[in-house]
Amino acid sequence: MSEDLNTVNPHYLERAIDLGERYEVCASEDIYDANGMKLLAKGATLAPGMQERLIRHKLRKPLETSLSVVDGVTIEVVLEVAKQLLDELPPLQTCAGPASARNASLEATARIGLNNSMTTLLTMSYKSEGQRHFKHTVLVGLIATMLATRAKLSHDDVLAVAHAGLLHDIGEMYLDPAYLKSGAHLKPEEWKHVVVHPKVGQMVLTELTPYPVKVARAVGEHHERMDGSGYPHRYANTQISREGSIVATAETLGGIFMRPDNPLQRASLALKIIPGEFTQEVVSIVSSIAQSAPDGLAAENIRPLADHAPRLNTLNQKLESVLAQCDAIAVSPLANTKSVLDAQQRVSDRIAVIKRSLASSGVWACLQEPQQVMDDMRPEILLELEVVSRELEWRLRDIARDLVLHFPKQNEEISAVFAELIETLDKLD
Ligand SMILES: [Fe+2]
Ligand SMILES: [Fe+2]
Repeated sequence: MSEDLNTVNPHYLERAIDLGERYEVCASEDIYDANGMKLLAKGATLAPGMQERLIRHKLRKPLETSLSVVDGVTIEVVLEVAKQLLDELPPLQTCAGPASARNASLEATARIGLNNSMTTLLTMSYKSEGQRHFKHTVLVGLIATMLATRAKLSHDDVLAVAHAGLLHDIGEMYLDPAYLKSGAHLKPEEWKHVVVHPKVGQMVLTELTPYPVKVARAVGEHHERMDGSGYPHRYANTQISREGSIVATAETLGGIFMRPDNPLQRASLALKIIPGEFTQEVVSIVSSIAQSAPDGLAAENIRPLADHAPRLNTLNQKLESVLAQCDAIAVSPLANTKSVLDAQQRVSDRIAVIKRSLASSGVWACLQEPQQVMDDMRPEILLELEVVSRELEWRLRDIARDLVLHFPKQNEEISAVFAELIETLDKLD
């Protein structure tokens, strides 16, 4: 991925050309390369076969600023989808609160300003995979706006969060679509391609929009975690802006809100599983939203203990196996290398945090005294079991990804030892 936008990104260009199947995509001004050679005249339509001409040289200006999409996505389209989501998703209705608060969130969304570059990018998102990406981005935008309103951010900051929420994944339009397919199980090495999207999004917003700096910053932070376990920068605590922490929370809630079974209770548990991942502010807000859910816990949707026990046992075994591998690395000659020692220490520390979370949840009792829990069978404990096991499995995969991203390439022996560790962490059962 190029560090500036004057070199055309091939995936962006491919998507822009694909848009031509349904929209008219044309040059809004003459397009020149860096040497002053005209590549496309104002009004010309972007068409298949133009890739080479536009990619071969650096351009004088980013291509994004010289393209326009006729009848592309407007803020009215965003609002229409936002209202549909509000009608379809009960957790979103609860999150919105009373009618006046719901309207305030929609009004903040209506005030989002989209220039030509943002319209083109959102239209790409709208067109890909049956609007899946677009619906996700609108949903995250709405949740983020609702959280910002509940957190009593100033009017301007709520608007900044609304912009950042709606545009948080815009960097994905610069990635190979093969890595973004729904349900794709990406290996940690493949995931390295996806991990750059917050950074790309931040750069795109900085270079192509007049939005306040905090909007681009929040987009860059939308996968960071307060305890430093996020990506791409491993920022922690005050390194993450309040707006960024709200968008990151909304990103996590977006997936959970799509579930039909107890989404709000799941959301509240997911934010608390590893203490310190999210701010106390958002954890409290989401807890109180979950408590205000009109129907309470729907017990008929909760799976019985027999469904969870094997998964929990596997998780426990996996934790022990990872710790054993870390211990073996720590006493091996490889530990003479500082980067090796640091990497194994980081993995051990994160596993210790996961074990503590497991111990402080109802899951621990289930592993120790299955009969006792079986007799108890309270629905809230069963739901906790399911959410804890699912979320902690994901945290293990996150550790694998973190290792691949930050562990420098080493000699063959070291690489082989860590490849084994990464495989254990990443394996889905
Ligand atoms: Fe997202
Ligand atoms: Fe993202």
